[in-house]
Amino acid sequence: MDSYPLEPFKIKAVERIPITTREERERYLQEAGFNLFNLPSRAVTIDLLTDSGTGAMSDRQWAALQMGDEAYAGARSYEHLARVQKELFGFPYFVPVHQGRAAERILFEILLQPGDTVATNQPFDTTLANIEAREARALELVIDEAYDTTSFHPFKGNIDLTKLEAALQQNPRPKMVLLTITNNTGGGQPVSLENMRAARALCDRYGVPLYLDAARHAENAFFIKQREAPHLSIREIVQETFRLADGMLMSAKKDGLVNIGGLLCVRDKGLFTQITQNMVRTEGFPTYGGLAGRDMDALAVGLMEAVEEEYLSHRVGQVRYLADRLKEGGVPVLEPPGGHAAYIDVLRFLPDWPREYLPGQALTIALYREGGIRAVELGTVAFGKHDLERDVWEFPRLELVRLAIPRRVYTQAHIDYVADVIITVYRRRDELLRPVRMVEEPPALRHFLARFEEFDPG
Ligand code: F0G
Repeated sequence: MDSYPLEPFKIKAVERIPITTREERERYLQEAGFNLFNLPSRAVTIDLLTDSGTGAMSDRQWAALQMGDEAYAGARSYEHLARVQKELFGFPYFVPVHQGRAAERILFEILLQPGDTVATNQPFDTTLANIEAREARALELVIDEAYDTTSFHPFKGNIDLTKLEAALQQNPRPKMVLLTITNNTGGGQPVSLENMRAARALCDRYGVPLYLDAARHAENAFFIKQREAPHLSIREIVQETFRLADGMLMSAKKDGLVNIGGLLCVRDKGLFTQITQNMVRTEGFPTYGGLAGRDMDALAVGLMEAVEEEYLSHRVGQVRYLADRLKEGGVPVLEPPGGHAAYIDVLRFLPDWPREYLPGQALTIALYREGGIRAVELGTVAFGKHDLERDVWEFPRLELVRLAIPRRVYTQAHIDYVADVIITVYRRRDELLRPVRMVEEPPALRHFLARFEEFDPG
């Protein structure tokens, strides 16, 4: 197992974290309807719900906040962000947006009509919801290895080129190809440069634009450097990545190292004009796009920090360290670990459980009850289809619990604590995990809103 990577930063401000008793956690669980999304953060000791908007900003970013220019139009902060966008991503046109899903909504409102398809490796939940809101469909064309949690394929986020070509030969063709880098839904797995180049070539052949969902593009670039192109610098890989695309959507809450923000970048001038018109109606004037000027300054600095190799090496190393410790303790994890999260493979954690007992949700409840850790179920609750009338489930292929690591927030002691709690829960799983069922089930985006109860199957 690799040793814990040296943090390439030291701590300047600290935030107290809540330490709770078991009785308190029991009460919080009841109040939350056993859905950890309903917990107040004051009840959570280690929060691994998401790596989105939860990172720590650097002193340089905090200093940049002070430089924010809050002019409604043409702020200096916008120009700062524009310079960084140009240098790193190189698109001729871009708008800031308040977060990734705003970019999704705007782009799809313009490009998608009812009945259209979008060819993807795998879309993130909100991306899928925004595609479906247009009455369009996402085709999930990730390589088969993505569904095998024990396969060590180095680029499990890759799109299957044979399936992609077959999709592009359909009539009508997909409206666009959208590659999520890294592929969050499949475990934070990277897409190779080779795969993106091949997808680009297919897009050219069939006259379909290629877009990137680039929320974790820097982590993707780091994996490319490690596994494919060691001779290139991270910056060169990032530049090459975006050179291949007609446009990109980005939730800057991940590899932008900010708490809020996003980008929508395109090459086509006509499309950009449509985007700005939509923006003025919905998000804000195109030079601020729903952000404060100071947010854009902090983002401009964060985007540059996120492509520093020392930062990425620690970041990805920290995730790997957690996955390695879990494996050492016998806990089945998705292989290889992704860039932003370690994923527990619930079907191997609880091989004998019926999936109707919602084992992933049961595991997140146990991790909270035992250690105040908040993780997220990405399995039946998040992605299963439930026929309520007949109470019949269609299960997703994977049943995962995600331990997403916020950027620059937790130390080795925190990560070791998390590993110790999970290993304990694993060893005592027969006693600590209880079947759960839903008592309130919203029709869409269920895992955010549902309420559960534990039950005794008798
Ligand atoms: N695309 C990907 C790949 C994402 O992971 C997310 C968000 C979005 C788009 C949407 O961006 O939140 O800024 O609107 N992922 C978070 C997560 C929420 O927990 O994985 P947003």
